[in-house]
Amino acid sequence: MAHDLLLLAGDGIGPEVMGEVKKVIGWFNANGMDFAVEEDLVGGCAYDAHGQAVSDATMDKALRADAVLLGAVGGPKWDKVPYEVRPEAGLLRLRKDLELFANLRPAKCFDALADFSSLKRELIEGLDILIVRELTGGVYFGEPKEIRDLGNGQKRAIDTQVYDTYEIERIAAVAFDMARLRDNRVCSMEKRNVMRSGVLWNEVVTQVHQDRYGDVQLSHMLADAGGMQLVRAPKQFDVIVTDNLFGDMLSDVAAMLTGSLGMLPSASLGAPDAATGRRKALYEPVHGSAPDIAGQGKANPIACILSFAMALRYSFDAGEAADRLEKAVESVLAQGVRTGDLLGPNGGAAVSTAQMGDAIVAALGAN
Ligand code: IPM
Ligand code: MG
Repeated sequence: MAHDLLLLAGDGIGPEVMGEVKKVIGWFNANGMDFAVEEDLVGGCAYDAHGQAVSDATMDKALRADAVLLGAVGGPKWDKVPYEVRPEAGLLRLRKDLELFANLRPAKCFDALADFSSLKRELIEGLDILIVRELTGGVYFGEPKEIRDLGNGQKRAIDTQVYDTYEIERIAAVAFDMARLRDNRVCSMEKRNVMRSGVLWNEVVTQVHQDRYGDVQLSHMLADAGGMQLVRAPKQFDVIVTDNLFGDMLSDVAAMLTGSLGMLPSASLGAPDAATGRRKALYEPVHGSAPDIAGQGKANPIACILSFAMALRYSFDAGEAADRLEKAVESVLAQGVRTGDLLGPNGGAAVSTAQMGDAIVAALGAN
């Protein structure tokens, strides 16, 4: 049976990088796999077409698909659109309505790129960490969330950080499960010294560990110290589990350690369906829409291609295909093929988005 894949390329460089993923999907379809691809709009382009950052019809398709692959949303063109329909609202609705509570953000340093990190080579060589970010709760979605007019010339802005036990339990379980497949270590990050939600987070993670994951090594860190340790000695971490907002920030820090934001994929997963065991899932690069280079054929498609590799692994049970794709990316980098973001201080000749995609497809066939 065909795997139903919904592609939402979105804005900025989204369509360019997604174009290269389509070539990769084409290669797998020509080599024994069966993906049925549908495409639709999300973000600013959806707002332009329907006045909404994601339409109900697109949401229906996303709910039915086996997996959704998203490019990027947003750009200066939509700076002035109403808050409720800004491009990011489309992405947030997808996460919330598909209940994609578990966001996996691996930060892996490719050998060929170790010199491009802002940290010294020895600090990041061989780096392989996984940030597990809670994605459907916390301050992103907590109510009230508003700007109140106090009637005295002042306004009051309110965002609410809120977590229930079950939300912390399920993200902690994902982190422990992931750790068992890796180096078996989890570091939980919160601000229990300042925030009640941090106190509960710490308690619940500790309890889940004690009840079900005693074999995994658990440590706790305050999130600010965690940020500091990530740039001081990032290789001390295996899996980091943290809330929605801290996860947003810490994953950007971790991403940059690896040398380029253009390399990093992510997966957002829901709970396994009771009947089928299948998880709803959305895969997307960690980078944004990069409006400054959009439409110029300069963007690095690797993060989006590696997001498809994560889809192969987590949605389609095709670990070997995922390995093959990741190896193809590695071998292309080892050959010295570089988009502009990967040139580093010594410069050199950059290939285009399409040339990078073609090189990866060629490497797929070769290995
Ligand atoms: C991310 C992004 C999003 C977030 C934005 C685009 C809403 O920064 O996926 O990290 O804040 O979650
Ligand atoms: Mg972010």
